[in-house]
Amino acid sequence: MDGLSDAAAEVRERLQRAARVAVLTGAGVSAESGLATFRSGPDALWRRHRPEDLATPEAFARDPELVWSWYRHRLQRAAAAAPNAGHFALATLQSTRPTFRLITQNVDGLHERAGSRSVIELHGNIWRSRCTVCPRSVPTPLDDALPPRCACGALLRPDVVWFGEALPARAMQRALDAAGSADFFIVAGTSALVYPAAGLVGVARAGGAFIVEVNPEETPATVACDVSVRAKSGEFLPLLC
Ligand code: OAD
Repeated sequence: MDGLSDAAAEVRERLQRAARVAVLTGAGVSAESGLATFRSGPDALWRRHRPEDLATPEAFARDPELVWSWYRHRLQRAAAAAPNAGHFALATLQSTRPTFRLITQNVDGLHERAGSRSVIELHGNIWRSRCTVCPRSVPTPLDDALPPRCACGALLRPDVVWFGEALPARAMQRALDAAGSADFFIVAGTSALVYPAAGLVGVARAGGAFIVEVNPEETPATVACDVSVRAKSGEFLPLLC
């Protein structure tokens, strides 16, 4: 057996004994689908763009067309991408465990397209937009002139969380419940730098979960993990199924 298979055998054995499994994912799980992450690799989004120009309420107020053109580009990239083996492995794990909970920071919709259900979306979803004035929520228009408008005439905005904004309260509560009650927690494809999402690893730890990190790089969460697997999620997660 090679190192990865050894690690998988140990993790699989712990997983089989677990009653409540929760998983936190980040941009790295979509990297093998061809989508750029925020902070890793030469194409990293925050290496090429400044978050304050594209992902804050102030940026949107200043130049909604610019912000929208970036999100439309990302939506087009996500639409052209396909879920990878890591996404499918998580959907498979869920199908065999009624208590399985998937928490994601990703807005690309690839977990849902792989078959995951009731995904806890901490940072929203670019496939959805909401009105800046009225309560309407609509599928993000793919070819309207930018910036797109709501039926009420006001601007639509992508239904994602921007810097300086609170996370959706219900999603955050579900994530805290899932992490706090898990006895087995996987943290995959995240740099674990952005709070409050990164804090869920500590919540899982405090709740007594066995924690497995899947990431080619070390992160600030590594010290809180029982096992750190230095591998791509699309390589490792299928070994758990
Ligand atoms: P980051 O770009 O910060 O981190 C991606 C992580 O994925 C890094 O630790 C990489 O080492 C790892 N990685 C790369 N390829 C991988 C692979 N094939 N398999 C597994 N891991 C891999 O992305 P996030 O942690 O998701 O927030 O970023 C968190 C938040 O910061 C995002 O949700 C976004 C961003 O600003 C908002 O937009 C609110």
